[in-house]
Parts: sequence; structure tokens; C-alpha cells
Amino acid sequence: MQNVINNAEKMIHAEREQFIQLHPQSLALSQRANQHFLYGVPMHWMNDWGTPAPLFIAHASGNHFTCADNIDYTDFCLGDTGAMFGHSPPAVAQAIKNQASKGFTAMLPSTLAPNVGETLSNFFGLDVWQLATTATDANRFVLRWARAVTGRKKVLVFDGCYHGTVDDAMVDIVGKKNINRHSLLGQVQDLTQHSTAVPFNDLAAVERELASGEFAALLTEPALTNCGMVLPNDGFIQGLRALCTRYGTLLILDETHTISSARGGWAKANKITPDFLVVGKPIAGGLPAAAYGFSSNMAARMKAAKDRAPSGHSGIGTTLSGNMMTLRAIHATLTETATESTYQHMLALAVLLEHALTDVIKTHNLAWNITRLGARLELQFCATSPKNAAEARGAQNDSIESAMHLYLLNRGVLLTPFHNMMLVCPATTQADSDKLVRVFNECLKELTS
Ligand SMILES: Cc1ncc(COP(=O)(O)O)c(C=O)c1O
Repeated sequence: MQNVINNAEKMIHAEREQFIQLHPQSLALSQRANQHFLYGVPMHWMNDWGTPAPLFIAHASGNHFTCADNIDYTDFCLGDTGAMFGHSPPAVAQAIKNQASKGFTAMLPSTLAPNVGETLSNFFGLDVWQLATTATDANRFVLRWARAVTGRKKVLVFDGCYHGTVDDAMVDIVGKKNINRHSLLGQVQDLTQHSTAVPFNDLAAVERELASGEFAALLTEPALTNCGMVLPNDGFIQGLRALCTRYGTLLILDETHTISSARGGWAKANKITPDFLVVGKPIAGGLPAAAYGFSSNMAARMKAAKDRAPSGHSGIGTTLSGNMMTLRAIHATLTETATESTYQHMLALAVLLEHALTDVIKTHNLAWNITRLGARLELQFCATSPKNAAEARGAQNDSIESAMHLYLLNRGVLLTPFHNMMLVCPATTQADSDKLVRVFNECLKELTS
């Protein structure tokens, strides 16, 4: 492994030089943007990709995009799931076009609203819905509802989780202690007062906490997808469901990424009914939109909580959520784009890709693995899939990761930054998949030479 790391460090140097040669326009745009955007980018973290300058996109369609230097890329990042159904899916683009001359936002529902509610209910299998603009907001709102409904303050999450910039979920286990996530900026509250993290796949640890009767909610993804990928052990999520019911804690499943599992998400496919289901990113084909669903029974509890509260600001909701444009885009995405046949294509191709990448890893005698969740694949630098975030962190290697991402990017293949995620979308073809496998093989040849 040390040989691979040494080669990776040399590779990073060479590939950064290569990026600079290939991308004069992106470099020029970066210099210009630097004058009026912090770090030269609309969002500061867009500067963290590990490239000498951000890659500026000229246009994107399906699973390809062209950068400012007119280079074509095969996109396996897909906006880290926002574009999971491809860039500008035709049905969504048409729906937006149709709505564009009929109003964007009015603080009132459009006539399409009842259809969107029915569509969400049919798609995910929960009765009642509310919209938000981002999955972060949806999670935040659900936690507010959960506390209001139960009258409890605490939230249980899993070490290594990410649910957007939701402060309540930003606690980590370090040693044996819970602490605020080290990297948070400007957070002055001690988050551990009301949030507790336990290891994923550890039902005993969950029960030890929930038994206190203090927890309003347990917030989790069905699989951890943001610290590498950690799949649930058989029966783990079922176990969470049972424990939450036993101790009066509400189970919130955040399916923002695990919507890659199957049409309707992981919970529906596995016949688990959470108390709240949160979903964001791709549900409006890549336009900002998120939703949370719950049962009719929960809706009654939420209304009762609202009735108990004094009138005025609830602390839940934003002005632009559920606007007319978004409603149109959600409807087109869920009824015309995220169809059964779409998912069949994505899942079948992802299985083939998993096998092909695994074969390449074996050819080079590396103790690495590919973990797959439906259309989503993660390369991890460990022999078998990790069981919790500590194991996933232990398998990370910044040098190898940076080298590999840069090598692939310079050869027209984009992986998801900050870990090694590859997502297959409806437009991804066998040829695209073959290209990834070929370039990955060439990269490993150099890394292991
Ligand atoms: C599981 C999960 N939930 C929520 C979010 C937040 O999404 P957004 O950044 O669109 O608010 C993310 C973002 O990566 C996520 O991975």
C-alpha cells in the first residue's frame, strides 16, 4: 500500500500540471470569479475539489457535460445525486418550459398541487406531505415537528452521518465521547446537549440511548452514504423501527441519497414505514426541491401540536418552497422521468459496473472493494465493506483519492468529490461504463507500478 501512496503523490503533481494545460478557460474564469466570489466560487466548498481551479461548466445534458474548454466529460458524480435522473431530463425541461410563462412563485398553491401530493404519496407510499426547498431544510423541519409532537428534546443520529447543514446532526464520536464536529464554522452551541451519536449497525447502543425516554427522534439514512458507504446489516433498520416504536421515538429516514436504491426509495423496497421520510436533491430533476412525508395519524398529531402552540411563526417553512415551478418539476420528475423502466436500466447497469470495477481491483491485487446501493457505487480502500463510520474513515486515503479523481477527470471521467462515489443515471450507457472501467484500470496500473 505504501508504494501506491508514493505513486499517488507523484501522480497528483503530474495530473495537476495536466489539468492546467487542458483548462486555460476554466483558469481564466476562476481568476475573474475570484474578484467577486469568496474563493472564486458561488459556494465556498466548490473550491474543495482538489483541482488547481474549479472546472467551469458550459452545458450539461444527460450524463455528459462540456467544460469551458470544450472538453466532454462522462459524469458519474451527477451533482452528488441532484442530477441522478440526468442533466436536464427532457420531460422536466419541457415541464419547466411550459410553466415558465405562467408564473414562478406566488405564496399560494398552483392548480397542480393536489396532483403533486398524490404523486408523492403513490411514489413513496406515505399519506401526507409537505415541501421544502432543500433536503437540509426538510430535515430541520421534521426535527422541529418531532420535538413538537413528542414534547421531547433530544435527537439520536449515527456517527459519520450527514443530513445537510443541520446542526442537530453535527455530532461525532471521538474516542468514546460525543463532540461537536471539529470542522463547523461559527457554531457556538454545545450540540451534544440535545444530540447524541452512536455507531451505525449497533442496535445495543441505540437501545441504551432510547431507553432513557428522552429522544424525540432518531434521524438516519437507511445506509450511510456520506462517509464512504456503510450498508445496514440485515435486520438493522427493522431493529431501529422496533426500538423507536418501543420507546416512543420517531424514526426519520432521510432518503435523499438512498432514493438510488429503487423506485420509491429504500424503505418502500424493504417494507419499512418510517414516522417521517425525507427526500430532496433529485425529486425535481435537479431544481432545488425537497419533501417530507408521514402517515395520516402523524398528520393528526402534528395538527394537534400546532393547535397547542400560540399563533405566529412556527419556525418551519420558507417563502419559495412549493412554488409553481417546483411543483411542475416534481410532477414531471416522479411521473415521467423516475419510472420503473428508468430504474431497471440504472440498476442493471450499476450491477455490471460493480462487477467490472471489482475485476479491475482484483487484477491489480488490491485489498479494495466496491459497495453498491442500487444505482450508487462507492470505491473504498478496504477489503470488505465497512460496518460503521469508524471503519469507513479508517479506509480513507486522501492521496490515493485525489490522485485517482484527478487522473480520471483529466481523461474525461468525473467521480463525486470528497469520497469515491459513482452514480449511474438513465442516460448512462454501457459505453460510458466501459470508459470508466478502462480509465480506472489504467490509473491502477500506474498506481501499482
Ligand atoms: C443524506 C442527505 N440528506 C440531506 C442532504 C442535504 O441536501 P441539501 O444540501 O440539498 O440540502 C444531503 C446532502 O448531501 C444528504 O446527503
